[in-house]
Amino acid sequence: MVNTPGFRLSARFADVKSSPVRDIQAVIGRDDIITFAGGIPDADLFEADDFAAAFDYVLTHQAKRALQYASTPGEPELREQVALRLARQLPTHPDQIQVTSGSQEGLFLVGMALLDAGDVVLVEQPTYLAAVQAFSLAGARLVSVPSDEHGVLPDALAAAIAEHDPKFVYLVPNFQNPTGRTMPLERRRQVAELLVQTGTPLLEDDPYGELRFDGEPVPPLASLPGMAGQTVIQNSASKTMAPGVRIGWLRAEGDILRALEIGKQAVGLQTAVTDQLAVARYLATCDLDAHIVKVAAAYRERRDAMVDGLRAILPSQASVNRPEGGMFLWAELGEGVDTAAVLPRALECGVAYVPGWPFYAADPDHSTMRLSYVTNTPAVIATGIERLARAFGW
Ligand SMILES: Cc1ncc(COP(=O)(O)O)c(C=O)c1O
Repeated sequence: MVNTPGFRLSARFADVKSSPVRDIQAVIGRDDIITFAGGIPDADLFEADDFAAAFDYVLTHQAKRALQYASTPGEPELREQVALRLARQLPTHPDQIQVTSGSQEGLFLVGMALLDAGDVVLVEQPTYLAAVQAFSLAGARLVSVPSDEHGVLPDALAAAIAEHDPKFVYLVPNFQNPTGRTMPLERRRQVAELLVQTGTPLLEDDPYGELRFDGEPVPPLASLPGMAGQTVIQNSASKTMAPGVRIGWLRAEGDILRALEIGKQAVGLQTAVTDQLAVARYLATCDLDAHIVKVAAAYRERRDAMVDGLRAILPSQASVNRPEGGMFLWAELGEGVDTAAVLPRALECGVAYVPGWPFYAADPDHSTMRLSYVTNTPAVIATGIERLARAFGW
């Protein structure tokens, strides 16, 4: 970072970089670039009329509340609605909900609540990079735990807990960002048993779980025996409803709730009341389940277009997975390929993706890349794949 005269930046920023996804996002605003980079929902699939009606209702009938300061944990209507939704998987009382300005803020608040400089957070390999950013700013040392296509490896997790005495473990068990992988029930049981035995807290980040296209839902780790009290689980409106409303929520029990609330007071006093009430109104009066079915059908078709299109042309040493939901798939292009080095050429060819390296807390695999299939129609995906083929020389 450049030194600004007079300002002496906090040491916290010394090793924390801007998110490469956001940086790539900034250079791909051009219309001629097909982007597989960000997890950007297709705006044509938003329920714009339902949201217009919800905001209209709020500003017509609840304006004095909507435009006023409000309490830090969140608006009662929204806490009630999201507690009801979470209760499908895990008994939840509205008092256990802290509303956040997107689940990204939730990561920051948990970091603030639990971390002191030098504390260890255990993460999957690879992991969600903006979580690394949030925990690093809170002073954490991130240690990645060897993982396979089902997520973190229980034996490796046990060894890492014994060695590092982490403050918490951070997992994205459903359709993980960046890999799209999901942790099966048996693995969840093993991980949960270990966390309970060792008294290790879990931050279970679940923005994608409801976006399932195939297979059966898997219960959250928080719902497994002994886990509810030692897990903070968080969800978001971003992937199922709309990211622009910036609404997320944390569910927690006990003292940490109070720390999260105090952290939230310090960061922003409260989440925007208009947005909270509009999302609560949307949830109370519209059919989110039906919307998710519609979105999932579109995303399933796009996932298949991307997986099938890539598998048809990838060289034999390369592979790509077929996640059962979410927004991303993960490609491993094989030894000798450096996806970051090819990115400028890909941009010249008119296609963007995110190289895999920033998602690793340590020992990056430079041959990997994350591709989002949700933003573009199958026809545009096909053109994007032709451009990728040109860039990589497939
Ligand atoms: C795993 C994960 N957690 C949290 C977030 C933050 O999302 P938001 O702040 O929009 O809820 C994202 C966004 O991509 C994500 O992939």
